[in-house]
Amino acid sequence: MKVSSLLTASAFAAGAVAQAFEDVDFNVTEALLQNHFDVTLAPELLEFVNNGQLGSKRSLPEPCATACKSLKAVYGSSKLISQGTTEYTAFQAAYWSNQQASVSPRCVFKPSEPIEVSSTVLISRLTQCPFAVRGGTHASFAGASSIEGGITLSMENLNQIKVSSDKKTVDVGPGNRWASTYQALENHGLAVVGGRMSPVGVPGLVLGGGFSFFSNKLGWACDNVAAFEVVTASGRIITANATLFPDLYWALRGGGNNFGIVTNFKLYAFEQGKMWGGQRIYAENQFEKVKDAIFKFGNETSSTDTDAAQIVSFAAIPRLGNVAITQLHYAKPVASAPIFSDFNVIPAISDNTDVRLLSELAILMNEGSHDTGLRQVMWDVTFKLDRGIFDFLTATFFAAVPSLSDVEGLFAAISIQAITEGQLTGMQRNGGNALGLKPEKGPFFIMNMGSSWTNPTDDSRLYKFLNDITETVKAYAKSKGIDNDFVYLNYASEFQDPIASYGADNVERLRAISRKYDPGQVFQRLQPGGFKLSGGPPNQSEP
Ligand SMILES: Cc1cc2nc3c(=O)[nH]c(=O)nc-3n(C[C@H](O)[C@H](O)[C@H](O)COP(=O)(O)OP(=O)(O)OC[C@H]3O[C@@H](n4cnc5c(N)ncnc54)[C@H](O)[C@@H]3O)c2cc1C
Ligand SMILES: *[C@@H]1O[C@H](CO)[C@@H](O)[C@H](O)[C@H]1NC(C)=O
Ligand SMILES: *[C@@H]1O[C@H](CO)[C@@H](O)[C@H](O)[C@H]1NC(C)=O
Ligand SMILES: *[C@@H]1O[C@H](CO)[C@@H](O)[C@H](O)[C@H]1NC(C)=O
Ligand SMILES: *[C@@H]1O[C@H](CO)[C@@H](O)[C@H](O)[C@H]1NC(C)=O
Repeated sequence: MKVSSLLTASAFAAGAVAQAFEDVDFNVTEALLQNHFDVTLAPELLEFVNNGQLGSKRSLPEPCATACKSLKAVYGSSKLISQGTTEYTAFQAAYWSNQQASVSPRCVFKPSEPIEVSSTVLISRLTQCPFAVRGGTHASFAGASSIEGGITLSMENLNQIKVSSDKKTVDVGPGNRWASTYQALENHGLAVVGGRMSPVGVPGLVLGGGFSFFSNKLGWACDNVAAFEVVTASGRIITANATLFPDLYWALRGGGNNFGIVTNFKLYAFEQGKMWGGQRIYAENQFEKVKDAIFKFGNETSSTDTDAAQIVSFAAIPRLGNVAITQLHYAKPVASAPIFSDFNVIPAISDNTDVRLLSELAILMNEGSHDTGLRQVMWDVTFKLDRGIFDFLTATFFAAVPSLSDVEGLFAAISIQAITEGQLTGMQRNGGNALGLKPEKGPFFIMNMGSSWTNPTDDSRLYKFLNDITETVKAYAKSKGIDNDFVYLNYASEFQDPIASYGADNVERLRAISRKYDPGQVFQRLQPGGFKLSGGPPNQSEP
């Protein structure tokens, strides 16, 4: 069914010069009928239809019960998961974080066509039942891709992976995760700029930015999207690229879930064979050398060989003590390339680096991680790259960790990831992204903290722990003149406001684009979860 062309044709039939994207008298029922959504199949829905018609305020059936029932009636029970079923329990348990798993939607809808996504948005508008969109489930806080009492729209069946005939791009559905995406592309000798850990979802990572093994060469994942297919608030299915709806194309590169539901990512593909990479763990007596190497790589040498990537995390590990967990990757099948010479000479207590496929590296990097079942939090801030602050942040972190010794199942790490000159250059592709990072002010680094634990009763202690470290290091950075506003959305906690960190101009531009494509502010009001364009952090209480 080509509803996209139908709707586009009708909307532009008048050929108006400056016609609004959505008519002021936009008729939701009419749009549903254009989707061939038979509103008569669920009698309760007709009450909402008629209510709109009469403009009256009669008492209506329960919105979400009606919305769920109508999706089931029209699209079939195999696409709908109801509360109280084993399928529902399994769906909930599959969230990466337990905070998200404990949010209970009225139902889960699993569309397999963009038009079904479109109808869901329209049904939500008609009934005012709120919704959330779930991709790979890896957003950590409650409500980011889950919704209490509403509809969780699971993208899992929109999972195409289709390489274009010229092999320059690949269509990747939002139901995909990175390891399987890489595996499918390896059959063609190709890769894309995407996530580094196997189970993470394509949509959340790309829409929020997307730090990759290839970023020093090509920029972030969002900088390597040729086009988005997106369902807008009025149910239109449109393509946004550098020439079609270019403002929306810009907004989707960092703007998260605020502009529509993406039903396809057309990603730039490139030839890629085997690579090299893995993890080296260094003991505390090597920290000075490790930090020197991180700094030199981020500040200078990364520009001399952009095939190289690194992330270093510091953590206290039982039996090992304080360690530096170094992830080194190289886009060619070359072991311990000269670019890593500063790391190569440091004696490691373990080393699993080897020549492997990209998918194998993504799976390896996830090894030992819990994919479900734990409390989770991530927190990040960005600073100008500086050698001194590395010492300050590790000292602050390791001094605070013992205070959590009684937290059951605790894991906590603090990571340094440089935003190098190469990344900042890549971010200028296609007119630049929405993140607002200024190349002339770089290089920067992200200080990212992650923690997992067992009991909800420890939540607030963990949040306070990470917030305190953040504030302490931020104060130090301010005193040294190396502070920077940017907060990376995909690593941000519910107590942070990453979109505000993109800068006032970008925020205003994003809001204007939102008003243009979504005058009813459907993606702000009816999809309340995640990071929104206004209103501050998702959770406004004190951490
Ligand atoms: C173990 C782990 C490893 C990670 N590694 C990396 C990494 O290497 N690089 C990096 O940059 N980040 C990384 N991240 C962060 C990651 O980018 C975010 O967690 C991201 O939100 C995950 O996306 P998802 O689709 O899995 O999550 P979800 O929780 O399903 O979705 C995240 C957000 O995207 C929205 N969304 C989902 N699908 C759509 C859609 N189709 N249209 C519109 N909005 C949608 C959701 O509503 C939600 O707000 C990692 C996170 C974890 C937990
Ligand atoms: C909206 O469209 C439906 C279906 O075409 C129609 O019955 C209804 O009268 C319209 N509502 C308004 C307010 O125009
Ligand atoms: C945008 O998409 C349209 C339709 O697919 C295509 O014709 C056009 O070439 C694309 N523009 C760019 C810059 O890729
Ligand atoms: C960082 O890199 C720049 C440019 O390459 C160089 O001039 C500068 O000396 C480096 N800073 C330090 C502290 O090494
Ligand atoms: C916000 O955070 C507080 C403090 O941890 C917590 O008690 C509360 O449940 C959170 N609110 C929401 C809506 O998640």
